[in-house]
Amino acid sequence: MPTSRKDRIYQQRRTQPGDFVFDEAVAGVFEDMITRSVPGYEAVHRLLRVVARKFVKKDSSVYDLGCSLGAASFSVCEAIPNASVSVIAVDNSEAMIHRLQQKLEGQPSEARIKPVCADITEVEIENASLVILNYTLQFVDPPRRDSLIQKIYSGLRQDAAMLLSEKICYANDDEDARMQGLHEKFKQGQHYSALEIARKREALEDVLIRDTHEQHRTRLYRAGFSRVFALMQHLNFITYLAIK
Ligand SMILES: C[S@@+](CC[C@H](N)C(=O)[O-])C[C@H]1O[C@@H](n2cnc3c(N)ncnc32)[C@H](O)[C@@H]1O
Repeated sequence: MPTSRKDRIYQQRRTQPGDFVFDEAVAGVFEDMITRSVPGYEAVHRLLRVVARKFVKKDSSVYDLGCSLGAASFSVCEAIPNASVSVIAVDNSEAMIHRLQQKLEGQPSEARIKPVCADITEVEIENASLVILNYTLQFVDPPRRDSLIQKIYSGLRQDAAMLLSEKICYANDDEDARMQGLHEKFKQGQHYSALEIARKREALEDVLIRDTHEQHRTRLYRAGFSRVFALMQHLNFITYLAIK
């Protein structure tokens, strides 16, 4: 299995707005891309292991929706060695799922992580003690977000939880611009050039559509969740724990 290469995609590509896709080129550099682009990415995984130890129950399923290369699925398996828990890792990118299958070959987690290439709005969720939706809702067509969250709520056991991580926007334009500016400084600190940052921003323009903190909270409570906690925030990246 080839390991993740350094993300140089926007050094090389001249892009058109809206053309960001999770294709083979992105899958090949994804680990480097996400750790250099998402502030707090590793901290979210440490938090996920804590949440998994608290919520995952024997003879239940964990869903990793928009799993990419399965980082969250591997974190859950590390935290929960119980073989009666299976982790269903769903992504609609064939390149991501193919790489995840390769990563799993010969690994102890192979028997427990089940990669599924499908649209998360179309998969059935059942008997779940934990659902992870990390940095993926923002790529789902906004009119389909409410029904996806409602479906997840329905598929969770009582007292089970969802961990939701997203890049948020701010209703106030000045606040939004300031946070976007800080995020760009963060990426510069991760050795992305100003040109790479600008090209990627343009490519993501109509693809990654952010919601505000209020929109997330309202949607989660409307779906029926009894408690919603913002567990962590790094710049404009936030992680919620929503408990059924
Ligand atoms: C930013 S990545 C998620 C990162 C991953 N959750 C992690 O923490 O490492 C978003 C992923 O969601 C997938 N995705 C986007 N929309 C999807 C959909 N409707 N159904 C399934 N997967 C989707 C993309 O292919 C991509 O792999």
